[in-house]
Amino acid sequence: MALGSNAMRVFFLLAMVVCAAQAAGKAAPKEKEKGKDDKSGGAPAEAPSGSAGGSDISKLGAKGDGKTDSTKALNEAWAAACGKEGPQTLMIPKGDYLTGPLNFSGPCKGSVTIQLDGNLLGTTDLSAYKTNWIEIEHVDNLVISGKGTLDGQGKQVWDNNKCAQKYDCKILPNTLVLDFCNNATVSGITLLNSKFFHMNVFQCKGVTIKDVTVTAPGDSPNTDGIHIGDSSKVTITGTTIGVGDDCISIGPGSTGINVTGVTCGPGHGISVGSLGRYKDEKDVTDINVKDCTLKKTSNGVRIKSYEDAACVITASKLHYENIAMDDVANPIIIDMKYCPNKICTAKGDSKVTVKDVTFKNITGTSSTPEAVSLLCSDKIPCSGVTMDNIKVEYKGTNNKTMAVCQNAKGSATGCLKELACF
Ligand SMILES: *[C@@H]1O[C@H](CO)[C@@H](O)[C@H](O)[C@H]1NC(C)=O
Ligand SMILES: *[C@@H]1O[C@H](CO)[C@@H](O)[C@H](O)[C@H]1NC(C)=O
Ligand SMILES: *[C@@H]1O[C@H](CO)[C@@H](O)[C@H](O)[C@H]1NC(C)=O
Ligand SMILES: *[C@@H]1O[C@H](CO)[C@@H](O)[C@H](O)[C@H]1NC(C)=O
Ligand SMILES: *[C@@H]1O[C@H](CO)[C@@H](O)[C@H](O)[C@H]1NC(C)=O
Repeated sequence: MALGSNAMRVFFLLAMVVCAAQAAGKAAPKEKEKGKDDKSGGAPAEAPSGSAGGSDISKLGAKGDGKTDSTKALNEAWAAACGKEGPQTLMIPKGDYLTGPLNFSGPCKGSVTIQLDGNLLGTTDLSAYKTNWIEIEHVDNLVISGKGTLDGQGKQVWDNNKCAQKYDCKILPNTLVLDFCNNATVSGITLLNSKFFHMNVFQCKGVTIKDVTVTAPGDSPNTDGIHIGDSSKVTITGTTIGVGDDCISIGPGSTGINVTGVTCGPGHGISVGSLGRYKDEKDVTDINVKDCTLKKTSNGVRIKSYEDAACVITASKLHYENIAMDDVANPIIIDMKYCPNKICTAKGDSKVTVKDVTFKNITGTSSTPEAVSLLCSDKIPCSGVTMDNIKVEYKGTNNKTMAVCQNAKGSATGCLKELACF
């Protein structure tokens, strides 16, 4: 996330309050009892009769012609699937379904699988959205699978993004938002040209994202691939991401995050951060990035924090291993003076601690001479940095490969000698 934003923050807080209230309401004994006893009349009248827990949007009036608004059918299919006990499937058959915002709220009575065989197209009418496009909240054991595409149709609205000029800018809709979810799996699908972030995971526990493809042009604004915040036990594997911002960003409050077998490019790399923007952020710990390839990205593996951090926060136990760099501008970078669009003051009194970071077997090419940049703060140096087998070489011929190391402490073995900071 290049631009954390107050607007987004406010939204999350709001969503949290609204959802907490809603969850509390749903969990009230009266409501629960009613659902249980009233089995015959429990489902909405328009619910599909679908056998074996099927809820097919094409039977609810959705048209896969790419132009008929199918929002209502999708929201109804969700309500039907979510309202029944046992395993339920929301079927999106082959076809192109145009939709506005989809509000898939839980808690659900059973477990829902969204089978995406067709494509959903997010309307380009921005006035239709309150916040996000597909918003899934308070749902446990959700599965989204299939070979279909979530097409944000961002091309037509990216010009409305003024976030490079204005920090508190209006945020365009994120494509797929998972908030307050336990044990979710997203597999096989493609996310295309999101208006803003492609996927945002917030306050979830146990999320697996596998064999997913995320695609947007390298110059599309704030089209981060997958952003994770305040979540634990998230695995991203076998996924290919090419976007206009971070391929993966691991924000405050993330713990137990494993990224393996990811290819990133174009994009801004695989990042931890930004850290320190807000005053109540939680620590980041236990992050493993392994067997990944970065191609022509502006950063490879990055840790970024604000110099004028608003909170005391620690990022620790960050492990990067077997990473191939192909023509990457900043292959390895710890940037504790991160300051996009000059929105911060460089007071140099960072309260962010970065420690126990391992870079192991990182190889390939850099498009700038500075293959390694450890730009740590003089107040709180980075500590416990291990560099093991770092062999990234500058591609150009007009300069030599180098490392820039400031306020970093640790050890190095088996690295190109010009890259060993210690
Ligand atoms: C989503 O639906 C729930 C109930 O189904 C409602 O309480 C909530 O306000 C809706 N959220 C949005 C953003 O429309
Ligand atoms: C999520 O999965 C874990 C591990 O399988 C399990 O222990 C936990 O109870 C699950 N949580 C929910 C809410 O289903
Ligand atoms: C992540 O990887 C580590 C190290 O391989 C492992 O110990 C941990 O269980 C994994 N976490 C998840 C959520 O898969
Ligand atoms: C180093 O990482 C590369 C992938 O970037 C992998 O092919 C290679 O096997 C790794 N080497 C070792 C010794 O693990
Ligand atoms: C080599 O790169 C470094 C770091 O980017 C730069 O400061 C220096 O001026 C460059 N040298 C030449 C000869 O271009």
